[in-house]
Amino acid sequence: MNIQNQLPHWADFQAANRFRRAIREFNSTPIPEEDIEALLGEALYAPSSGNLQPYELHWVRTPALKKLIAEACNGQKAAASAAELIVVVASPAIARKTAATQLAHIDSSSTLAEKSKDYHRRHIAKFLKILGIGGLPIWAQVLSIAAMIRPTLSLLPIGHIGSRHWAARNAVFASQTVMLAAAAKEIDSCPMEGFSATKVAKLLGLPRGSVILLVIALGYRNGDARIEERWRRPMNDVVISH
Ligand SMILES: Cc1cc2nc3c(=O)[nH]c(=O)nc-3n(C[C@H](O)[C@H](O)[C@H](O)COP(=O)(O)O)c2cc1C
Repeated sequence: MNIQNQLPHWADFQAANRFRRAIREFNSTPIPEEDIEALLGEALYAPSSGNLQPYELHWVRTPALKKLIAEACNGQKAAASAAELIVVVASPAIARKTAATQLAHIDSSSTLAEKSKDYHRRHIAKFLKILGIGGLPIWAQVLSIAAMIRPTLSLLPIGHIGSRHWAARNAVFASQTVMLAAAAKEIDSCPMEGFSATKVAKLLGLPRGSVILLVIALGYRNGDARIEERWRRPMNDVVISH
């Protein structure tokens, strides 16, 4: 029997993964609202450190605001022609809020075993300590020196910048899930980091401490949209066997 027939998820995954391209010009076909809801719903299943899900997906639905956000994306055609814009926002404050919600869920759960509850409480307490004391700006200086001596320490989630980097890093997985879920529905996307973070933050009224890692444009590719030839490094350049 053909292995593809035995593993239909693989064929479906590969098709969606290959369909996803950075599309920079969309036609005017609207995306059904339930499709956007469905792919944002899938993004909720993305993994995150300590399951703290330190991000928000801002679905910009008001046409006037969408136009302003598109302009803040340095006038990129992908943004201007997108049917929908999703702004991915992350912050340690969102992680702290998740921790409180999760703790309340654990306390009130009638299905979780006591052992399991204890494990989650300890786990959350550890993360809250790192995000609390560890998030103080003083650590940024310590991290900066430590990372100079030991560059592998650069990504420690401490200090105000380190903890924001940590939050943003976690939001990457949800972002990619949005784009792959869109691809599975043959909806195109373009991840964009070319935007004015200050303008987008102001337009969305984001609280201080938020970082915006990506604006995702969604739509259906225009017939004559420029799609670059797909180039990737050879596998033996990327995959290092030990
Ligand atoms: C973090 C990130 C930021 C990006 N920013 C932009 C952008 O601002 N504008 C744009 O046209 N493409 C942007 N891209 C798309 C990349 O150029 C594109 O993914 C890459 O060239 C590979 O092409 P492919 O996605 O079609 O495979 C971005 C991609 C990522 C992951």
